[in-house]
Amino acid sequence: MDELLWQKIDEEEPIPDHIRERMEECRRKGMEVIDEKYIKRPSMIQGIRDAGVINTGVLDEVAKLIKPGMRTSEIDDIVREYTHAHNAVCAPYKYEGFHKSVCTSVNSEVCHGIPSRLCRLKDGDIVNVDCTTILNGYYADASRMFMIGNVSPERKRLVEETKKCLEIGIEAAQPWNTVGDIGYAISKYARSRGYSVVRELGGHGVGLEFHEDPFVAHVGSRHKGMVLVPGMVITIEPMINAGKAAVTIDPYNGWTIYTKDRSDSAQWEHTILITETGNEILTY
Ligand code: MF3
Ligand code: CO
Ligand code: CO
Repeated sequence: MDELLWQKIDEEEPIPDHIRERMEECRRKGMEVIDEKYIKRPSMIQGIRDAGVINTGVLDEVAKLIKPGMRTSEIDDIVREYTHAHNAVCAPYKYEGFHKSVCTSVNSEVCHGIPSRLCRLKDGDIVNVDCTTILNGYYADASRMFMIGNVSPERKRLVEETKKCLEIGIEAAQPWNTVGDIGYAISKYARSRGYSVVRELGGHGVGLEFHEDPFVAHVGSRHKGMVLVPGMVITIEPMINAGKAAVTIDPYNGWTIYTKDRSDSAQWEHTILITETGNEILTY
């Protein structure tokens, strides 16, 4: 966002005094507190909420059309066409050299799978579709898992428990808790189900840019890390592996992350707003 517009918003919609004071109090106690430029003001929140509506529409459209035999490049077409038809833009396209509009990560692919004409979804596959939408300059980021045809009970359980991990993470994302509380809650649950949690990648601040501070690890310790201040907009996007936690990057395309042991991996993602009383999911 350009500097002048930002200054105008800062004057017209200042951070409320009681929130500023509580941030200062946290700082005095030695807690990590986010830079004020990442605290979203009402007009920005509305912008991100509107982007979230399109983002949800995109994923609903994918849900309607996805089927066995479909190429992942066709998912890219669906996402791009729906997004453009709603006057929005796909954030992945040309992002740091990524050349598709969405990420499609199948089975042992953890994230950043590149849609391809050569990749056909077959009966029994699980696939994550991760879609980030820009509307009027505001970003919303969400992903879902899709089960293709008849999926094994093991894969179904992984998909469902990973969704539960996201829900548990959201529940932990209360105002004046910390990012560490989110990671702690998610990893505790995932491990109790016999799964491992990817550490190298995580959620992030989002809204005016694709990836903002803070980094939202899905492992962590209670009361540690950045404080969650009302007005922060972050993603939670746990990547949960059936086998070991270690991951590796595709040496050929430089993007796709796989599990090192080639075990299955699942991920769900929402963009949420921290409010004074809890949080609001902006990608429903
Ligand atoms: N949407 C991913 C996330 O949740 C980022 C994808 S970056 C891309 O943060 F370039 F691969 F699209
Ligand atoms: Co995403
Ligand atoms: Co994200």
